[in-house]
Amino acid sequence: MAKPTVVVTRAIPRDAIDVLAGACTVDENGSDAAYTPAELLAHARDADALVTLLTDRVDDALLAACPRLKVVANVAVGYDNIDVAAATRRGVVVTNTPGVLTDATADFAWALLLAVVRRVVEADAYVRAGRFTEWKMLELLGGDLAGRTLGIAGFGRIGQAMARRGRAFGMNVLFTNRRRVSGALEDELGARAVDTATLCASSDVLSLHLPLTAETRHFVGATEFATMKPTAYLINTARGPIVDEAALVDALRSGAIAGAGLDVFEREPVVHPALLTMSNVVLAPHIGSATVATRTKMALIAAANVLAVLEGGAAPNPVR
Ligand code: DGY
Repeated sequence: MAKPTVVVTRAIPRDAIDVLAGACTVDENGSDAAYTPAELLAHARDADALVTLLTDRVDDALLAACPRLKVVANVAVGYDNIDVAAATRRGVVVTNTPGVLTDATADFAWALLLAVVRRVVEADAYVRAGRFTEWKMLELLGGDLAGRTLGIAGFGRIGQAMARRGRAFGMNVLFTNRRRVSGALEDELGARAVDTATLCASSDVLSLHLPLTAETRHFVGATEFATMKPTAYLINTARGPIVDEAALVDALRSGAIAGAGLDVFEREPVVHPALLTMSNVVLAPHIGSATVATRTKMALIAAANVLAVLEGGAAPNPVR
């Protein structure tokens, strides 16, 4: 019997390719550049399985052109690049990689938080530019964390990991979440559920950990920025469109908030040009989960999901 074909849409860690190659014919894009939609279609047409990245758009038109397809395994916890409803309608299983990137992503959100609040990138540039000619009392002053309020929008795994980091730094932690969180978890993490308006108005640092859905698009926009403290910072390691980027630029320009740490952008990889000019903004190219171990685990989970479905079993990490 012919082996099933798995299309891997761009370079992923070798270990996962090896796992897939044990049971499948692997059509691998060894390059670290995404396929164009036409290239993706050309490769996916006869595939039994797709291993996709967040840069691949898997919509109904693509699914319709792939009659053999049984599973789309996204190598990410987020899956807003896939039309899950269309896939489900067509009997195609969609999977993601939850759990393994929680700490890596929370660590990176915390790195952005510290970088922007304590002006680490500005300080580095200052030294490199030869401006450190003498110690000064009033140079590069930043904000404090202990005793201040960390607001977390989205209290899933990564949001909870942020709460732990916030508590370790002596912060008060508030959060919002779509579903009610148990009192025991609130007590364990020392975090309190509030409504969105309270979260925005009370946070000294507001960190976003929501999935991108129709409901969360522009979760933070002009209305929310208007209620935030002028000393507050925004951190986004979730998805760019959760923030209205034009409104963010206005808020930063007008001093409605103090700064931002951004790993994701509304029209990724395009970054609003004004953000590139602002010294109170720290920018990163969507690398929240980018550690060697984490990216390897993510790819292995995607491979396991593919194999489970192709072998006729249940995928360990289906999304609906
Ligand atoms: C995810 O997993 O959704 C991240 O954005 C990419 O690692």
